[in-house]
Amino acid sequence: MPITYLSYLKVDRLLSLQEPASKPAEHDELLFIVIHQVYELWFKLVLHELDKVKADFSENRLFDAIATMKRVRTVLKTLVGQLDILETMTPLSFSAFRDRLETASGFQSLQFRELEFVLGYKRPEMMEYVGPGGPGAERVEGRLHEPSLVDHFYEFLVHRGVDVPAAIRHPQPPQSTIPDEQVQKELLRLYRESPDVAILLELMTDIDEGLQEWRYRHVKLVERTIGSKRGTGGSPGVEFLKKSLFRPVFPDLWAIRHEM
Ligand code: HEM
Repeated sequence: MPITYLSYLKVDRLLSLQEPASKPAEHDELLFIVIHQVYELWFKLVLHELDKVKADFSENRLFDAIATMKRVRTVLKTLVGQLDILETMTPLSFSAFRDRLETASGFQSLQFRELEFVLGYKRPEMMEYVGPGGPGAERVEGRLHEPSLVDHFYEFLVHRGVDVPAAIRHPQPPQSTIPDEQVQKELLRLYRESPDVAILLELMTDIDEGLQEWRYRHVKLVERTIGSKRGTGGSPGVEFLKKSLFRPVFPDLWAIRHEM
């Protein structure tokens, strides 16, 4: 049998995966399912791309890293833009099927947690929501313990003659990226002396800003859709989500901007 569009992309299987829990199905539940599934697909791609960038960093392949970071930045813009579509769902139409979600919540998105860990935003306490031994738990646990993109970025900096303090490289037990003045000074130097590296640093800043933008837009989406209701995942909802706003994944890149 020759390969066709349908067989190559497994379209039949893909289109059988949207199963509304409401019976009879509430109109907007299909949108809710599709958008979350699409997010998971994009998360899969972003993780795949960031794994490549890690290798590029370790091997000092600046232009390969730049090309892939451009792709990641563009996907992030799409991730943010897609929230507009979900905002066409009113609180009333969401209420019509929200109870059917029971305790299901974005909190439990394993790939989102992986993404945070890969980017060096490591909150080990978030493993609680993954659940011990649950499907994919090992993969997320592995991401928590493996070197983050930032750890690989330090390897790249070492290739570029930067002396990165041992204490901030792949810290154990896992923790979020530690801002460091010595690294900041060297980044400033690279901005001034290496325009090719500066392109990468700006892309990293774009990606950081993109993720922060997603968090902000998600908070506003949640606020306009459920107001002050608690989350289905058990958190206080909007007030909880606001705590992760304006937290950079590459803090050193933000700490130096007033010096340029
Ligand atoms: C009507 C739409 C949505 C509502 C009302 C909503 C609500 C919430 C709430 C209340 C939380 C906090 C955890 C909890 O208690 O459940 C949360 C977390 C989360 N949501 Fe949404 N959400 C919506 C759409 C989305 C979409 C489209 C995505 C895309 C993947 C998403 C991904 C996430 C993620 C990843 C978290 C965890 C955030 C973190 O740990 O910092 N949500 N959501």
